[in-house]
Amino acid sequence: MTPLLFALPGNERLAALLAPAIGAEIGKVVMRRFPDGETYWRYDTPVAGRSAALLCTLDRPDEKALPLLFAAAAARDLKAAQVGLIAPYLAYMRQDHRFQPGEAITSSYFAKIVSAHFDWLVTVDPHLHRRGALDEIYSVPARALHAAPLIAQWIGDNIGKPLLVGPDRESEQWVAAVARGAGAPHIVLRKQRRGDREVEVSVPELAQWRDRTPVLVDDIISTGQTMIETVKQLKRAGLPPAVCIGVHGIFAGNALEELTQAGAVRVVTANTISHSSNGIDISGLLADGVRALIA
Ligand code: R5P
Repeated sequence: MTPLLFALPGNERLAALLAPAIGAEIGKVVMRRFPDGETYWRYDTPVAGRSAALLCTLDRPDEKALPLLFAAAAARDLKAAQVGLIAPYLAYMRQDHRFQPGEAITSSYFAKIVSAHFDWLVTVDPHLHRRGALDEIYSVPARALHAAPLIAQWIGDNIGKPLLVGPDRESEQWVAAVARGAGAPHIVLRKQRRGDREVEVSVPELAQWRDRTPVLVDDIISTGQTMIETVKQLKRAGLPPAVCIGVHGIFAGNALEELTQAGAVRVVTANTISHSSNGIDISGLLADGVRALIA
């Protein structure tokens, strides 16, 4: 039977790209808030006996997670054959360690909650730092897709003489893969984060790269401070204005404006989170991952 794809609010545009690619019918739902702020959810397309995939990117997760879990619980309650989660941006991946006594390791707890409600998960470039794979914390089949080839393609199509720049050592492997794909050199900087909005970036000797356009590549742009500090350092070193590419553009507060003011000539993101900076379409990539798991 044709699988059903349900878009949580805000995910409709990506759902329209994804549904034909996975051969799914877009299902109808009603979601609204009661006057007291609680969630009302209703499936207008019956799910009984059918595979249901819920599409919900998880930036600003605290306001999205509870409605999403209700939607999953209702689909199971209404006898869907299976219930999958497509979360192009997967939240709660960064607090993966107890840095100070008493801290909650939210990545583990969130993974447990999601695993209890869904039969599978597909996401794009989750922030795997101290963990090597999603299945270390997710107990259901979980597929992490990689946007590196699409980013490399975008750079090849848009930037004449790029120098790929990774902001920190954790980004090395990833930036190296993009650089290989784009046939461009890369450098990796050193970063020290002292607080949510306090980031220090140190750069090596850059004189040899002054004829290249620096292209910063990172998985997440949240406060933008990582990129802002990097853009400033590259400018000080006499490089041309930088292009910034993030897979997931969260843009907390005025991050985009601040990044532009710092000197970024262009900011481009993938459409894992709907935003005016979207320039790299991941719907085909997502479709490959979903087809591998949906029954
Ligand atoms: C951190 O390790 C990530 O790869 C990103 O560099 C980080 O999340 C970016 O955050 P922000 O934009 O707040 O500096």
